[in-house]
Amino acid sequence: MALIDDLRRIASGRVAQDEPMAGYTTLGVGGPADYFVEVMSEDELSSLMKYVTENGLEWMIIGDGANLLISDKGIRGIVIRLGEEFSKIEVDGMRITAGSSARISKVADVAAKNDLSGLEGVGTVPGSVGGAIVMNAGTHRGYIDEVTHSVRVVTYTGEKRVLSKAECGFTYRNSRFQWDRTMIITYAVFNMRRGDGAAIQEHLDSVRKHRAETQPQGKSAGCFFKNPTGLSAGKLIEGAGCKGWREGGAVVSGIHGNFIMNADNATATDLYMLAERVRDQVREVHGIELEYEVRLIGEW
Ligand code: EPU
Repeated sequence: MALIDDLRRIASGRVAQDEPMAGYTTLGVGGPADYFVEVMSEDELSSLMKYVTENGLEWMIIGDGANLLISDKGIRGIVIRLGEEFSKIEVDGMRITAGSSARISKVADVAAKNDLSGLEGVGTVPGSVGGAIVMNAGTHRGYIDEVTHSVRVVTYTGEKRVLSKAECGFTYRNSRFQWDRTMIITYAVFNMRRGDGAAIQEHLDSVRKHRAETQPQGKSAGCFFKNPTGLSAGKLIEGAGCKGWREGGAVVSGIHGNFIMNADNATATDLYMLAERVRDQVREVHGIELEYEVRLIGEW
């Protein structure tokens, strides 16, 4: 029995071979995944992980691709995506349970409607709940770890587990899920505080408006580099004179230096080469080593 047939028996979502990844990332680049599998429930995910592990297959999970730079050579093995079922958001008193593929901004809006506070900081950031947990996403108004109570996962062997906040290993823009690739986040549970819904919504709207004014629109992965402690990567890049730099179809935004954009049919290589040139220049001018915030996937 061919691998693809096995995958189709296990998963009820889209299952495909040589699936181009460009359509699954906000940067709009990325070569083909050998196999692409969309699972529609924790049970399907559990069966899939068991199968993948028993057969020694390589795998990775993709969220809404808002923070990924996938190589033009694509991804070997199986790319797993969590389907519609995982975008549910449920409110129970002060607690919100959100599926891993729900947009974090949508969760923040639901919180506001229910007069629940705590997700204002992260609710203005692009990306999914799962992605936000992995990256410990947020802004100076707060990071997602502050309200995270627990996280539901399926492990690589197909076991369902609940991790407490402490077990998630959150630090600045980081969590255990960045190095521990043995589990996939399916749901997150947030412990919220009572708040004034109208004020929260007003805050969300005003930050989103400010963001739309100070950050470029178009194909990007948000900020490309982490802010070095106490500094702004965007400011450093601007100071190094990189704004407007180009490489093929990639460009360093003139609006915000930490946005490296797919302006005109860029390849992943264009973006990567431009990012490396920016790093070299920042190192030379400021003596500071910028670290990637976007996740580089595949061969470079
Ligand atoms: N600045 C410049 N030149 C630039 C960009 C910024 O001088 O080209 C200056 C700004 O004027 C400001 C300072 O640098 O004084 C900080 O800039 P900004 O307020 O835009 O915030 P940031 O530190 O660059 C962080 C997050 C963003 C988030 C914003 C707003 C990181 C790496 N970035 O950016 O997150 O949207 O705050 O809350 O922490 C992302 O997650 O992808 C992302 C873009």
